[in-house]
Amino acid sequence: MKILDEIHVMGRSSLNGSVSIQGSKNAALPMMAASLMHKGLSVLRGCPRISDVFCMEEILKDLGAVTWWEGHDLYLDCTEADGIQIPAAYTGRMRSSVILLAPVLSRNHSCRIGYPGGCVIGKRPIDLHLMALRHLGAEIEEQEAYLSAYCGKFMGKEIVFPHSSVGATQQAVLAAVCACGETHVYGCAREPEVVWLCRYLETMGAKIQGVGTEHLYIQGVGELGPGKFQIPPDRIVAGTYLCAAAAARSRITLENVPVGELESFLEVYRKMGGQYEGKSGTLRINGERVCSPVPLVETGIYPGFPTDLQAPLMAVLAGIQGVSRIREKIFDDRFGSALQMRKMGAHIEITGNTAVICGTDTLKGCTTEAGDLRGGAALIIAALGAKGETCIRGTEFISRGYEHICEDLEALGCRIWQSSGKGNERI
Ligand code: UD1
Repeated sequence: MKILDEIHVMGRSSLNGSVSIQGSKNAALPMMAASLMHKGLSVLRGCPRISDVFCMEEILKDLGAVTWWEGHDLYLDCTEADGIQIPAAYTGRMRSSVILLAPVLSRNHSCRIGYPGGCVIGKRPIDLHLMALRHLGAEIEEQEAYLSAYCGKFMGKEIVFPHSSVGATQQAVLAAVCACGETHVYGCAREPEVVWLCRYLETMGAKIQGVGTEHLYIQGVGELGPGKFQIPPDRIVAGTYLCAAAAARSRITLENVPVGELESFLEVYRKMGGQYEGKSGTLRINGERVCSPVPLVETGIYPGFPTDLQAPLMAVLAGIQGVSRIREKIFDDRFGSALQMRKMGAHIEITGNTAVICGTDTLKGCTTEAGDLRGGAALIIAALGAKGETCIRGTEFISRGYEHICEDLEALGCRIWQSSGKGNERI
């Protein structure tokens, strides 16, 4: 199979038409991990076929699960998933693999896991994950190359998170659902992906109260039944495509959009001059009048502006005349793609966690390098608003989270193609 590791975009073409939003990566991954907690068959419908999901599937198979796909439905038979080793070869590729600790410990009482890797967007400690697991009774040894953890049975207790973490909240929930007794978790993240995980676990028989709030109360149950769930649409992919319409000053329609989860993003969209109309999951977007800079956008925990849409937004702002500012408040080094946008002629100054963007309508295509998933998608957005051809290398980052961004943009009328870097082959 030929590896297509470059994306080429011919900028300044107008987009129109309609595309449907894929299932959510960040909802699917913890649900796949949770499926380990039922010793039988579970199914996740509408699962995105992206490399992070394939990586998690590989890990589950390595642990003894049997998996298969029927279209976008992923079947996970975890009857014999009794493995306890998760090699660094997997965990180094995907940070969210750390979420497997609780399900493996809950089920198999022991786990040896490589340290998590993934996108480089600053320091990404796992101290809160480990704190939650230790609180509920796990013994964890942090060795040089891997973590070794043991737990007879998780024991319900009180956990107080000093600050919000999506992954650590999910970890605590996964450990608590089959624990002995009751667990109160305070300071929980309220992101939709935490809510979706709780809903999935509830269908398996978990007892969770306070879903969607900062305080979760979980009564441990003896065991979980089979899981069956429709993966919700991906709010970050939807937001990325909204940015595409804005950068290309175009009208497009998105189907299967979680409009309610995008409120803070849509507020900024309106400020830029974007218009939209949303009804039962269909969002008609008019980006033709996008022309206003935004004095300050700060990323924040949900329902604040999502950090995952910070780079795609920056790509739009880079093409709007006037001064905009973005303050990144979740991660400490998430402006990597700004340096690549500068190569295209963007005026972006970074000081600490703040980016000052002096927008220009003279962005020009050139060769760029994706360094992380959302930053890579942002380069595609910047390319849509730039004159001429942009080449984006490092597309393996983009395939971690976008199932068919090139096909979707091509269907909307963009001239976009992939190549192996040695010649230009169409997709
Ligand atoms: C998840 C999402 C990611 C998104 C992020 C914030 C998945 C697979 N990934 O990542 O796309 O950008 O939420 O919405 O769902 N932190 C600690 N200690 C910990 C854990 C986190 O200090 O043990 C810090 C992080 O460094 C960061 C902040 O907490 O500064 C929030 O991170 P967190 O919410 O945990 O993000 P993830 O769950 O890794």
